[in-house]
Amino acid sequence: MSAKVTIDNIKDFSVGRERQVPTLQGEMRRYINFDNAASTPTLQPVLDTINQFMPWYSSIHRGTGFKSQLSTHLYEQSRDIVRQFCNVHDDLHTIIFGKNSTEAINKLARRIPLKEDSVILTTRMEHHSNDLPWRQVAKVIHIDVDETGRFSIADLKAKLEEYGDRVRLVTVTGASNVSGYVNPVHEIARIVHEHGAEIMVDAAQLAPHRKIDMRNQNDPQHIDYLAFSAHKIYAPFGLGVLVANREPFEEGAPEMVGGGQVEIVSMDHVFWTDVPEKEEAGTPNVVGAIALAKALQVVMDIGMDQIAEHEARLTSYALKRMKEVPGLVIYGSADEKDVENRLGVISFNIQGMYHALLAAILNYEYAIGVRNGCFCAHPYLKVLLGINKDENQKMEEQILHHDRSAIPGAVRMSFGMYNQEEEIDVFVEALKQIAAGKVQGKYILNKESGEYRPAGFELHFDQYFRL
Ligand SMILES: Cc1ncc(COP(=O)(O)O)c(C=O)c1O
Repeated sequence: MSAKVTIDNIKDFSVGRERQVPTLQGEMRRYINFDNAASTPTLQPVLDTINQFMPWYSSIHRGTGFKSQLSTHLYEQSRDIVRQFCNVHDDLHTIIFGKNSTEAINKLARRIPLKEDSVILTTRMEHHSNDLPWRQVAKVIHIDVDETGRFSIADLKAKLEEYGDRVRLVTVTGASNVSGYVNPVHEIARIVHEHGAEIMVDAAQLAPHRKIDMRNQNDPQHIDYLAFSAHKIYAPFGLGVLVANREPFEEGAPEMVGGGQVEIVSMDHVFWTDVPEKEEAGTPNVVGAIALAKALQVVMDIGMDQIAEHEARLTSYALKRMKEVPGLVIYGSADEKDVENRLGVISFNIQGMYHALLAAILNYEYAIGVRNGCFCAHPYLKVLLGINKDENQKMEEQILHHDRSAIPGAVRMSFGMYNQEEEIDVFVEALKQIAAGKVQGKYILNKESGEYRPAGFELHFDQYFRL
């Protein structure tokens, strides 16, 4: 396809959008993907680029052949495109490629110099990937969210005052994978820098939906570190990015060591090569880097503002229409007019129905892909669901006893730039039917996994895809 990709025609470039999947009723239905916060499908231009590249593919960095040199050139060019996407144009930042956001954040946690009494401030609204890595290396303090689930600037200030110069880093999500709230990262950055600390933004959710502007390091609102994943921005080929102030990486040894990172190795000493190669242990993922670079070019060509506007319209429409469903509860803001500072990520339940059952019915009877559970953000979900200490303890006991038949959670729908209003219409009509008790299947719970499956219905995956 050679037409220019725009926000109006992007749906036609979303790979697999027309794919039909089996339903309980025995008919095939077009799959509606409302699980973009987990992973996005790829785009035709990304797939075309990969296919065009594969005949040129070869190992990178030390190969002397033409293909190796070309592959190395493209890999390095991918870093430049990431720089452009994040608006970093100084030599003080480096672009480190890895596997995903989780790996990027773990790397920073292992490499940032910390003292015995250093404190890392994270928040109550983080994905576990921006919480657990820090607990391994320092004292972690969680900045609170307010009663609506939004980041509390007041608590950030209070905690910065309380812990003073022990605070080495404040690490905060750019946008929540549960409520969709977008955090004011530049305002947070200014406050953090005033206190002499640095800021890390987990942009796994933010990057596919908003313009990223890390700014120059002499700007008090700049971002020092930023992580995101290619599979959430239309390039699911196994790449993650850490854009980082290079200083901490210039000293010391990488947390993972092996090939591709050294100048000299003798029997008793090692001289590391320069950043960023030093930080990329083993053979790098050149295909993933090229896929990401192409995806970033596509979203920049479409325009991040156009993407944000389209998704805000979808979110507003969805919130408005979901109010038609009796007993539907939304966690976080349900205000359809307040969509500027949030993403199209909506977590909800239908009162009286277990979230896992609702998600299963949407899949088996309507071919709508959503997600349910706690979305790797247990501390935040507990706040949004209002789970008290006793309920929490009961839940932990149940899980430890392999019983997930009544674990608190929600259903999450999340938009990508290719989703359309008519898909929301199908979704809302499905919810109305389900809320009215019009369900075709008899669903059986697997207590241990917490999943529901319709009785007597088998999926034969071999009919659809075989290796
Ligand atoms: C906010 C946030 N941070 C981090 C991650 C982890 O991303 P990955 O699984 O690509 O490492 C996710 C994934 O859902 C996320 O939503």
